[in-house]
Amino acid sequence: MAQIITRQTTPFLDQKPGTSGLRKKVKVFAQANYLENFVQSIFDSIVIPKGATLTLGGDGRFYNKTAIQTIIKMAAANGFAKVIVGQGGILSTPAASHIIRKYQTLGGIILSASHNPAGPDEDFGIKYNTANGGPAPEKITEAIFAKSKTISQYKIPNLVDVDIDAIGETQIDDFTVQVIHPVSNYADLMAELFDFSAIKALFKSGFSMKFDAMHAVTGPYAKAILVERLGAAESSLMNCEVSETFGGAHPDPNLTYAHELVEILYKDTAPDFGAASDGDGDRNMILGNHFFVTPSDSLAIIAANASLIPAYQQGLAGVARSMPTSGAVDRVAAKMNIPCYETPTGWKFFGNLMDADKVTLCGEESFGTGSNHVREKDGLWAVLCWLNIIAAKQKISGQKVSVEQIVKAHWAEFGRNVYSRHDYEAIPTEAANGVMAHIKSQFTTLPNQKFGQYTVKTADDFSYTDPVDGSISTGQGVRILFACGSRIVFRLSGTGTEGATLRIYLEAYDADTKNHHLDAQAALAEMIQIALEVSELKQRTGRSSPTVIT
Ligand code: G1P
Ligand code: ZN
Repeated sequence: MAQIITRQTTPFLDQKPGTSGLRKKVKVFAQANYLENFVQSIFDSIVIPKGATLTLGGDGRFYNKTAIQTIIKMAAANGFAKVIVGQGGILSTPAASHIIRKYQTLGGIILSASHNPAGPDEDFGIKYNTANGGPAPEKITEAIFAKSKTISQYKIPNLVDVDIDAIGETQIDDFTVQVIHPVSNYADLMAELFDFSAIKALFKSGFSMKFDAMHAVTGPYAKAILVERLGAAESSLMNCEVSETFGGAHPDPNLTYAHELVEILYKDTAPDFGAASDGDGDRNMILGNHFFVTPSDSLAIIAANASLIPAYQQGLAGVARSMPTSGAVDRVAAKMNIPCYETPTGWKFFGNLMDADKVTLCGEESFGTGSNHVREKDGLWAVLCWLNIIAAKQKISGQKVSVEQIVKAHWAEFGRNVYSRHDYEAIPTEAANGVMAHIKSQFTTLPNQKFGQYTVKTADDFSYTDPVDGSISTGQGVRILFACGSRIVFRLSGTGTEGATLRIYLEAYDADTKNHHLDAQAALAEMIQIALEVSELKQRTGRSSPTVIT
């Protein structure tokens, strides 16, 4: 090994890394010693046994390649025997999770700020995942934070950059860097889970789709899987070249930011199916011809039709959803007679349940859906679920089946959990806290109160006891539950970067098929008024309408 240099440094972190890691502006990461300090804090917080391998890759945003070279060198200096890195520094978050699991590496470092914009003046991020392929648990992120406050030195060898653009191995004494194809392992996994021949036949029959990678990491994945392996037309792809600035856009697959795709799906010439994924490939949005599928419905529909997908043909151990996600999947679980877990927001809670084989499928209203094939949410996996379900249904019925028909048939069977989320972004923190406190102050007076046709049953602050490790998470969102099963949830975002982001989650249950054509905002109009009344949101924040509606 080349000479290892120990550089003296000073503590640097002003903020605890969350489970989604540390996200900062590129300019912050690029400061002298900053990235190095964080990486050393990670390595100092884990035990690195002899012969250990590290998985490494990122979403391709600006600064990805620079950071990768630094991390490879520091991994060598800190006792790793090997680093497996995606070619060009590319690995989507679910693909990285898969590599960690498949090659049983000690863990992985994923470079991404998810859907946040990329570029020299935008965001960069770094997070550590453990051997199960999932985000590091709180005790590790806390240790990293603690180390970062006392760090005095980091180790880096005097090495030249490794070629990460060519597949193959570079040996430096007893340290190996293996550059792997970023897609092939992941594509092989998808081929094991899904009925690729049925999906191929679907495309052959003239089924049309549009996939929007939003200039981010899923471009090469979509090309390899949808076009090369499944035979979709080349024109099915849009924005599928990874750009370091993500095309100057905001790669968050929802109705606001993926509007280019939404417009295509609402044209006269719309394809049968549309989908998008985010910066690092873990989120998804599903669209049909003139139709939007809410992520909550998508989870419920995948669960209800899981037996059509080879990987889940044997049945589901259980399902899980985050608390603010609609209860649509609960109704499916009840009918299937399988457990349904309600967890706090964030993917880490699903990991424990999956490691203990308690759930097979899980999801969040925030465009995240996944299964136990990895320990992250998985955008392309969700797209393939839909393609597989459509292909299987068409094969069974011998007729064309649209996304809208699938969703409406689901509502007819289970009822519709009409759902919407209203976000009020960048409001002053004090005003946001005031809104939450005001709602909490009504916990005892709200029950039995009538608002038009709605009567409050209970009002509380959600807390969760993890059934696997017994840990308790409190203060996970304020709920107002109505006697009819409808509900309003208020929650402050844990990922917003400017001021506070207040999220209002609205859900009304409607079993009557006569109403199922209604637009969600119209169907929820009364609930929206109740939410504003109970929270005094307008008076307290001066805001008259949400920033983002999904
Ligand atoms: C948001 C989503 C949440 C998701 C998280 C990470 O967090 O709402 O469901 O797990 O991003 O992708 P929030 O800003 O609401 O705390
Ligand atoms: Zn993401």
